[in-house]
Amino acid sequence: MGHALALGRRGLGRVWPNPAVGCVLMAGGRVVGRGWTRPGGRPHAETVALAQAGPAARGATAYVTLEPCAHHGRTPPCADALIAAGVARVVTALTDPDPRVAGRGHGRLRAAGVAVDQDVCAAAAARDHAGFLSRVAAGRPLLTLKLAMSVDGRIATATGESQWITGPAARRRVHLMRLTHDAVLVGAGTARADDPSLTVRGFGDVAQPVRVVAARTLDVDPRGTLGRTAGEAPVWLCHGSDAPAARLVEWQATGARCLEVASGPTGLAAPALLARLGAEGLTRVFCEGGGQFAASLLAADLVDRLVAMTAGLALGADGLTAVGPLHLDRLADAPRYTLDQTEPLAGDTLSHWTRDRP
Ligand SMILES: NC(=O)c1ccc[n+]([C@@H]2O[C@H](COP(=O)([O-])OP(=O)(O)OC[C@H]3O[C@@H](n4cnc5c(N)ncnc54)[C@H](OP(=O)(O)O)[C@@H]3O)[C@@H](O)[C@H]2O)c1
Repeated sequence: MGHALALGRRGLGRVWPNPAVGCVLMAGGRVVGRGWTRPGGRPHAETVALAQAGPAARGATAYVTLEPCAHHGRTPPCADALIAAGVARVVTALTDPDPRVAGRGHGRLRAAGVAVDQDVCAAAAARDHAGFLSRVAAGRPLLTLKLAMSVDGRIATATGESQWITGPAARRRVHLMRLTHDAVLVGAGTARADDPSLTVRGFGDVAQPVRVVAARTLDVDPRGTLGRTAGEAPVWLCHGSDAPAARLVEWQATGARCLEVASGPTGLAAPALLARLGAEGLTRVFCEGGGQFAASLLAADLVDRLVAMTAGLALGADGLTAVGPLHLDRLADAPRYTLDQTEPLAGDTLSHWTRDRP
């Protein structure tokens, strides 16, 4: 199952709205087939592994990181394909919470005489599938917030200079993290100040994540980098109902999608924004700031994972804070995160945190 999970992770960031599943077929002590969900979400991992195994699948054990599907979509159900191939036993890590599956895949297999073992490596699988699980259960994608900051928690100097606080190794890691997410998200202030491209660079010809900007009034120049490159990799502008019509037309002309979202006290309503991204099929979103936007996501308790990249320089209280005001009176009201891992990275440090949820 560990091997199947590792295979499944290869699909992270490129299979949405589907889950990134891995499958290993074993027969006679040998691996006879391996598969993972292909870019775009199809074919499914089981289909790929069965095709590789051919007749060797008869009597084999299939290790699958998520319950095989049981519904007829664009392809026949994977549970049926496993049965038809003569697989003797299926071991799964998680039950698929998608209401169209939700135990029916397991049931179909058992009804056909296939032995089924469930919940193997369930905790690890829940972590890998967290984006898909969040979209199905909460209707929104998993949200990871990256903060690249000085030791005193600043993301820019008083004049707004922010490139570069962390070193090249940390920046390369950011590109890798973009690659494993369906979308990269920033606030309009960052789009205005940095004119970023938000693409994955340095990893060859890869599927680019969707680039999303939260810009209530669409006050981001469509002639900037995002507008100029909207035909090469997707750009979505999330805006409020009061965005000027002329600006909307200008952005649409670049090839970007404009998505209307309800407004809140500090801009777009953060829960509505995330719900909209979930409805569009995104399962994993990587937010890169800036401080005002990060604060509104934290205030709404929407940040599931935090990646703090800390560089060895101090920028002082007049620098721009990594997270804007949260207006907290009591420590108990602050969202608390559990440390998963820290790593030194060529002079910077990286720490990964997960939100404690009841
Ligand atoms: N070191 C780093 O890693 C890093 C990363 C990112 C940014 N930065 C720096 O941070 C600075 C930009 O940060 P910032 O805090 O000024 O801007 P920001 O947080 O990127 O964007 C704030 C803007 O986003 C829009 N917005 C839409 N919905 C919002 C919501 N719910 N809450 C808050 N804002 C919302 C608003 O603009 P509209 O009213 O126009 O919609 C708001 O003014 C730049 O200097 C940039 O270089 C550094």
